[in-house]
Amino acid sequence: MLEVKNITKTYTKNGSTFTALNDVSLNVDKGDFAAIVGPSGSGKSTLLHTIGGLIKPDLGQVFYKGENVYEKNNRNANLYRKKSIGFVFQQFHLLPYLSVFENIRMSDGKKANKKSIEYYLEKCLLLSLKNKYPSELSVGEKQRTAFIRAIISEPDILLADEPTGNLDPENSRILMSLITDFHKKGGTVLLVSHDAESANYASRKITLQQGKLI
Ligand SMILES: Nc1ncnc2c1ncn2[C@@H]1O[C@H](COP(=O)(O)OP(=O)(O)O)[C@@H](O)[C@H]1O
Ligand SMILES: [Mg+2]
Repeated sequence: MLEVKNITKTYTKNGSTFTALNDVSLNVDKGDFAAIVGPSGSGKSTLLHTIGGLIKPDLGQVFYKGENVYEKNNRNANLYRKKSIGFVFQQFHLLPYLSVFENIRMSDGKKANKKSIEYYLEKCLLLSLKNKYPSELSVGEKQRTAFIRAIISEPDILLADEPTGNLDPENSRILMSLITDFHKKGGTVLLVSHDAESANYASRKITLQQGKLI
């Protein structure tokens, strides 16, 4: 379903270039649950953003259902990001001036579907907080909100960047059980994690080291 072919991505900072991804190739099949692991700075977030259509690689291609993600027109590129992919960002990226409910509704591809938003809010123990703003939430509550926002439009692929990185063990388990549910319903999951316990939920591990797959 997803084909990453010979991707290289360099960053330039203060005049020097740094190779964050070095000729990375991988395939992801529908229904896969893969963990991307590796030390800090090894390129995990860059790889996830590249797959999500958010960072264009310098070299190489990303194919989704046979189509090059970076050769789509604007409309189709947006559809890919919005409908095919659900992204849980490392820093949540909730909009501060929207409530929990509104943050989630904003990313719902279909017409705002109050019922299904409330179903997930209840499941994530957030229903009583639906009118709160991000600044009024704990880290775990923000993370669960970001998770619902990522899956509310029923994407094919969930890309989750260290979703349990800031959570205590209890909140980590809640989040991982939600991700596992998404997978059991047929979703495809790519999970970046440097926490071995979370990575163990995956059926396959992809290891990065200094921008290379090992
Ligand atoms: N926008 C950027 N500009 C310059 N360097 C960056 C940028 N984003 C990431 N990097 C560098 O690229 C490397 C890989 O980053 P990243 O993909 O975030 O790794 P990871 O998620 O595995 O910690 C790091 O050394 C990081 O400092
Ligand atoms: Mg990262």
